[in-house]
Amino acid sequence: SSEEDLYRPNFHFTPKKAWMNDPNGMFYYNGYYHLYFQYHPDSNVWGPMHWGHAISTDMITWVEQPIALYPDELGTIFSGSAVVDIGNTSGFGKASEASPIVAMYTSSKKLEGDDNWKQTQSIAYSNDEGKTFTKYENNPAIDNNEIKDFRDPKVTWDEDRKKWVMVLAAGDKIMFYDSKDLKKWHLLSDFGQGIGGHGGVWECPDLFQLPVLGTDESKWVLFVSINPGGPNGGSATQYFVGDFDGTTFKMDKDFETALNKEHNYWIDFGRDNYAGVSWSNATKKDGSKLILGWMSNWDYAQVVPTETWRSAMTIARKVQLQKNNNGYRLLINPVNELTNYRSTKYKKESITIKGDTKIIDSNAMDLASTEIQFNISNLKHEGFTFNLTNKQGDTLAFGYNHSDKNFFIDRRKSGKRDFSEKFADRVSMAKRTSLNTGLTGTIILDKTSIELFFDNGETVMTEIFFPNAPYDKLSIEPNNQEFVLDDIEAHKLNFN
Ligand code: FRU
Repeated sequence: SSEEDLYRPNFHFTPKKAWMNDPNGMFYYNGYYHLYFQYHPDSNVWGPMHWGHAISTDMITWVEQPIALYPDELGTIFSGSAVVDIGNTSGFGKASEASPIVAMYTSSKKLEGDDNWKQTQSIAYSNDEGKTFTKYENNPAIDNNEIKDFRDPKVTWDEDRKKWVMVLAAGDKIMFYDSKDLKKWHLLSDFGQGIGGHGGVWECPDLFQLPVLGTDESKWVLFVSINPGGPNGGSATQYFVGDFDGTTFKMDKDFETALNKEHNYWIDFGRDNYAGVSWSNATKKDGSKLILGWMSNWDYAQVVPTETWRSAMTIARKVQLQKNNNGYRLLINPVNELTNYRSTKYKKESITIKGDTKIIDSNAMDLASTEIQFNISNLKHEGFTFNLTNKQGDTLAFGYNHSDKNFFIDRRKSGKRDFSEKFADRVSMAKRTSLNTGLTGTIILDKTSIELFFDNGETVMTEIFFPNAPYDKLSIEPNNQEFVLDDIEAHKLNFN
């Protein structure tokens, strides 16, 4: 269909049919990355949740699998996580088999005659490397009758304390638990009331340790997705940097000062990266973590102009921690595996940009499976705007304003937009934090998404769009004065 041709991404994961939201249960084992996801197989809008499933050897190309978890008498299957229980601490493993995979998720049951849900935490385990799951006989593992929003357990192995730690979202705070066997959980502490962004409900937390680049030090990072209340409206994921002593999470003092003085910190300032968490058992040799998010926003996800399926995931990303003059900040970049798909290359150096200047068009390279790197070594002027356009007059504009130090994406004229008032009601902005005089960027383009990684991943923006015809030209213009684009390199990504 034309919808398939126009809008089905070339390389971002989408379910073959029906509705998808959050990534769930991500783990790596025996050569495969697993991605489960919030899935409503019977419709293209949200409804009774299942866990869909896909596998990949490189986090880029995915193969969808049969549904892994179905609703049961405790409720539908909301978001959660999975770990590889290498030591068989749970006893779910059988001596002759691979390590058990233990998933923990929220059972969510609508209460009779009221708008609330009873949300409890349940367990399921797999003895065939994540293909099929058996629900634990003593579910729910964590019961709950008091807390309204109580969900999205993310389990991680705490190597320092040799125990499992779990973070759980509880409305306006994160609750921390620990366990020796993944079955009996003890409440340790909570974090977050009055701290950070509270424009909406706290959801989908993650907790992990990261080495600080170039040092022997390491810090703990806490992700908290919130909806609404994101920096540019609707859903978004904030992060906190601090220390976890096995019981409580404490924000780093400088991070806290910066957060109170400036703004909250977000893993992505675009409007379409939500509920992202890390893969378990996939820490890279250098200590970095791998994440991926849902590439949509609750503000309009259910009405975007696709019918047979709805929503895609972001590209998988590598997360690192740096300490610079600003303090601790995450660096988030596409996973290296993406470079394996590079084919045709286009490169230009030292172009003086005086007016709107064509960089590349669709005769030279398809602009819907493309990775672009650019570098401007001297940013004394007022900034620049890239324009992705088609002959129908649609334009997706993005770039940087040096005068107010804002990166931006402007999709107000990017194509179809009247399906929701909120979709294209503003220009999304992200304050630049890097103090460098030069500016580098990576741009990843698919048919319906752009992912921008500025300053080596210090500021990230991800947004979706629905042009009336494929964009066929990328150009760049100065926001005011001419400037030199030192180099720009585009790679066509080939997925056949
Ligand atoms: C986040 C979320 C989670 C919940 C799931 C339900 O997008 O609201 O908190 O578990 O979606 O599908």
